[in-house]
This record gives sequence, C-alpha cells and structure tokens, in this order.
Amino acid sequence: MYSALFNTVFKRMDPEKAHHLAFDAIRAAAATPGARSALRAVAAPPHPSLRVKTLGLDLPGPFGLAAGFDKNAVGIDGLAVLGFDFVEIGTVTARPQPGNERPRLFRLPADRALVNRMGFNNDGSAAVAARLARRAHGSRVPYRPNAVVGVNIGKTKAVPEPEAVADYVTSTERLAAYADYLVVNVSSPNTPGLRDLQAVEVLRPLLTAVREAADRTTTARVPLLVKIAPDLADEDVDAVADLALELGLDGIIATNTTISRDGLRTDPAHVASLGAGGLSGAPLKQRSLDVLRRLYARVGERTVLVGVGGIETAEDAWQRILAGATLVQGYSAFVYEGPLWPRAIHRGLAALLAASPYDTLADAVGADLRKAPSA
Ligand SMILES: Cc1cc2nc3c(=O)[nH]c(=O)nc-3n(C[C@H](O)[C@H](O)[C@H](O)COP(=O)(O)O)c2cc1C
Repeated sequence: MYSALFNTVFKRMDPEKAHHLAFDAIRAAAATPGARSALRAVAAPPHPSLRVKTLGLDLPGPFGLAAGFDKNAVGIDGLAVLGFDFVEIGTVTARPQPGNERPRLFRLPADRALVNRMGFNNDGSAAVAARLARRAHGSRVPYRPNAVVGVNIGKTKAVPEPEAVADYVTSTERLAAYADYLVVNVSSPNTPGLRDLQAVEVLRPLLTAVREAADRTTTARVPLLVKIAPDLADEDVDAVADLALELGLDGIIATNTTISRDGLRTDPAHVASLGAGGLSGAPLKQRSLDVLRRLYARVGERTVLVGVGGIETAEDAWQRILAGATLVQGYSAFVYEGPLWPRAIHRGLAALLAASPYDTLADAVGADLRKAPSA
C-alpha cells in the first residue's frame, strides 16, 4: 500500500513537502487514541529477543531513527509508536537557523538514495530544550512513553570555527538533561568547515568540553558519542577510534552522508544538476559497513558502535551487528519503505537471530571479526 502511495503521491511531490506531510500524519495518528492503537497493532512491539542493554539504557530493540528526520523533537512519540526503538533528534545548533535555500532535498529512486543539503535547519537548542522539557513533564503518549531519545548537536553556521566549542557547549548545557545519549555531529557536509572538526587535535578539546558541560549540567552521566563521515581516510577513522578510547567516549556513530557520487545508476548529468549535498541510502551501504568494520577492529568492545548508512533490510542491519554495531539506525529507506519499515526490520532481525548460533543480539555483535582467521 505504501509503495502505491509513494508512486502516485509522494514521488510527484517536492521531497521536503512530502516529508512534512508524512511526518504530520505520523504525529496526528500518534496523538489520536483510535489511530494510535491501530498503529500500535500494526507496528507491533519488537520481539523480546531483540532487547538491548547498552549505554546504560534498556532498549526494546537495536533499531533507531537516524538524526535529521525529527530535527526539532516534534514527533518523538509518534515515531516510537511506529516501532523505532530510539529516536535521534537534531541536528540542533545553539542558535536557530533556516538552513539552506530550497530545493535542498532530492530523491534518486533508481538508486534508493537521497541527496540533501538541508544545512541544519532547526529551531535552535533553547526552543528544542523547552519542547523536550514539556515532554519530560508529562505530555508523552501512553504507549512507549519512555521512548529513548538521542540528542544530536552541531555548530551554528554563522559561528566561526574558533568559537565552535562554545557553540556546542551552549547546546549541551541546554539539552543534556533531556538526552538519553548525546551526539557530537562533526560530519554533515552541509555546514562549511564542520567536517574539519573531525581532525583529532580539534576534536579532542571539543569532545572534552562537551563532556565537561554535560557533567556540569546533569548528575546523571549522559553517554556521549561522536558521529563521523564516511569520507574520512582510513587513517583518520583509526585516529578517531583511538581518540574515543583515550577520552573514554561512550560510542561512535558511523556514518553520516557522503559527498561521493560514485557508483550511481541515476544519469550523471541529473545527479550533477542537483548540486552539492550529502548522499544517503543504498549507495552508502558498503562504505558505511567498511568504516564500521574498521572501527570495530580497532576498538572492539571498548566503546559502543552505532551502524548507519544504507540500511534497507533486516539482513543489512544484521550484517552491521555482526560487523560490530550494538545499535543500528536508518533514515533514507524509511522514505522508500514507509511506516511498516521498522516492523519489517524487527521481524527479520528476530528471524535471523533465531536461525543463528547466537542466543542474544549482544552475542552476535562483532561475530564476523571473531570468526576471521586473523582475529
Ligand atoms: C534529509 C536528511 C537530513 C539529515 N540530517 C542530518 C542531521 O541533521 N544530522 C545528522 O547527524 N545526520 C543527518 N542526516 C544523516 C542521517 O542521520 C544518516 O546518517 C544518513 O542519512 C545515512 O543513513 P541512511 O542511508 O539510512 O539514510 C540526514 C540525512 C538525510 C537524508
């Protein structure tokens, strides 16, 4: 049914309008008791075998919605009703900002991919913190009221790089109290200079300052993760992994979108006509998996890895887990697969786990490396 709707309605619409329409529908359904129970029945809670304990959290399953879908924390509960085990909101910046000019989101259906140069359009961390505070004080929907919320923060575009740390610290101070985990995003390609913050000599003081700001703000220790780009050279991936260990970081999210346009089926002239932006979806699958494998080979169980980039099926999610991911996330395939996508991932993962030699998902994490002869 969703594919018919996608092909007849959404595919013809401007992708950003379609996003808002679909997201409004999810939020409206989750706020209406009858529709919510219908959704709940359809989405069905994940299989108990998929429960994951990590980052000090107890999650119903390993499958989250990646950052960028709910930038302003307006639809967390609706997304949880659909079956996402956790929702990463953001990227949120210290100051509100409009993002880049439209159009800034494009579909490449032949590649099951998206290109975006949204540029961190968001309400700013003060407004998002106020929204999260209202949610924390009782306005959650009764079904899965404790949806796990990751908060992803980035740099305000107008802030020059030397003041980047202060910008992240401001957002941390406002948001840490509402975050089940906090993500320092240094990997979106659409804020000029942002990805330069991945260089360890810049990243070290940034992550240290955010850690200290989070600790000043809340007594509960908020897990801190960093999200990296797939376009890092392998040595730079290793350097971030080493830094994560050195700083006692809780985790690494791999990966954000890529600036590469390699290996696409879509006509190159059309791709070029869309202009700059990050590519996500199926074409990102292999590189994201490679980065994850590399990270796991370096850090093993010492920090939590979150696999994201091109996950479309339960098999894709399972591959990430075997490669070392404790948690997985997706965004682009949600656009192509629709609201039943989380259910399909859960059912498939439960079947793959049952057919595997592993009793729990935790046992399967990183199994590929343990099997490898050199391990
Ligand atoms: C339209 C769009 C907006 C995004 N915005 C953000 C963002 O604000 N912050 C972020 O860390 N990642 C953002 N991402 C990246 C996703 O979180 C994810 O890392 C990436 O899309 C790869 O996953 P996928 O192939 O499943 O989409 C965005 C992706 C898309 C498609």
